[in-house]
Amino acid sequence: MTFCVTTPIYYINGEPHIGHAYASTAADILARFNRLDGQQVHFSTGTDEHGIKVARSAEKSGMEVHAFSDFMSMKFREMSELMNISYDDFIRTTEPRHIKSAQKLWSMIEKDIYKSKYSGWYDPRDEVFVSEDEIVNGLAPSGGKVEWMEEESYFFKLSSYQDKLLEYYNSHPDFIAPQSRRNEVISFVKSGLKDLCISRSKFNWGIDVPNSIGHVMYVWIDALANYLTTFGFPDNMSIAEQKMKECIHIVGKEILRFHAVYWPAFLMSAGISLPKRIFAHGWWTSNGQKMSKSIGNVIDPKSMVNKYGVDCIRYFMMKEVKFGEDGDFSEEALKKRISYDLANDLGNLVQRVLAFIQKREGKFIADYNFSEACSELFNHSRNLINKLRPLINKQDLNGALNVIWDLISESNKFVNDVKPWELSRTQNSELDSVLTVLCESIRAIAFGIDPFMPNTAKKIFDFMNIKGKLFSEINENFQTQIFPHSYPLFPREK
Ligand code: MSP
Repeated sequence: MTFCVTTPIYYINGEPHIGHAYASTAADILARFNRLDGQQVHFSTGTDEHGIKVARSAEKSGMEVHAFSDFMSMKFREMSELMNISYDDFIRTTEPRHIKSAQKLWSMIEKDIYKSKYSGWYDPRDEVFVSEDEIVNGLAPSGGKVEWMEEESYFFKLSSYQDKLLEYYNSHPDFIAPQSRRNEVISFVKSGLKDLCISRSKFNWGIDVPNSIGHVMYVWIDALANYLTTFGFPDNMSIAEQKMKECIHIVGKEILRFHAVYWPAFLMSAGISLPKRIFAHGWWTSNGQKMSKSIGNVIDPKSMVNKYGVDCIRYFMMKEVKFGEDGDFSEEALKKRISYDLANDLGNLVQRVLAFIQKREGKFIADYNFSEACSELFNHSRNLINKLRPLINKQDLNGALNVIWDLISESNKFVNDVKPWELSRTQNSELDSVLTVLCESIRAIAFGIDPFMPNTAKKIFDFMNIKGKLFSEINENFQTQIFPHSYPLFPREK
């Protein structure tokens, strides 16, 4: 079975920030979960390098545009490394394989393309065409200053896809998620689709329109085609088709329209299968305010990771808000999560159980003859991945963490109730099975958090000398071997 997931490809006109790190982390968790679940995974991310906005940023920086792209794209690659993003492909839209793919896509939709004159407003900040009624005081909804555009352009007959798109949404209720966003898209399409201007001739930082001198593709056609490129299109058409069908696009809410309206229309026109789902996530504010360079409150993932560690940041972003909703990023909230959820709940469980076992020289005889209380915790542990799977399949990352934390709480409660240290004093024969079930629950928890916090999971696996990696291996009985260590997972607040 194949599972494919993509992040948006990021504009390289500015530095990576927490919004980029967020989309990448969410996609990474889906990719990691599915890999551990035994699936063939293709996970792509990358950079969107063409368009007027990038050309102008290059100019401002004084660098030649190719050199600027190399330099900036590298920063996004570094952000991926920093966030521990396990991508299989990092695609850049300036690569020859992509230029070939975008041009092929263009030629496949040519029957729906015509030439005409465009006159209207353009917002270079978001690389979108805007209508009169969207403009307030000369500004587009993004806050960008609009520019008048008048040029001979190519148009895509988007209007003729209105009914087909509505039919498709109707027959594929899970195509757009979350539901509230789906409703927005449907009402946007119902309100009427205009044909889409898909070329520019006033600048040349883009992919040439095939057989048409002086025109480059509109950056969004170019950008959306990246998903096909990464799947091997056009050389490997059937594989690309298959991957497309299994693909989940993770996108921010403000670019949902491009992914859920324009993209499916292009694909329908080209006769290529549509992706499985487009999931739109929400936006982060910073301490209650919109993140903006001018306010100076843009959150830099690098400084956060250096200060708190990558797993804590990954955890915080997924736990603090339901995936799909907006959230607020503050260090205060982050510190609370680290202290309560990570150090107190998870860290403490691991520390107290493993240190206890280690004090007994790491020895106990695995005993699966369980009392009722042990059986209950054991069954919950063995069932963890089965509970997570449907949540991950609907991208409910926050819900998945809640289920893992339920098991953590249950395990901590079990330790408090059963009091292994007392059993040990009285040489109670139940101790072996109590420790067995606790090791089983910690092991299950480590498997569960692995996609979210790979470094932390690895530490636990190392503490317990667990070699297995795939979820299927969770069903093998635990072999005890706890190594002499101290077992802190998270630094305590000083
Ligand atoms: N290049 C296009 C995407 C093309 S995909 C075929 C683009 N790039 S972007 O760099 O501007 O944005 C990339 C992603 O970052 C978007 O999905 C956007 O939602 C996300 N975020 C930007 N700021 C954000 C927050 N403050 N919070 C969460 N995500 C945000 O759009």
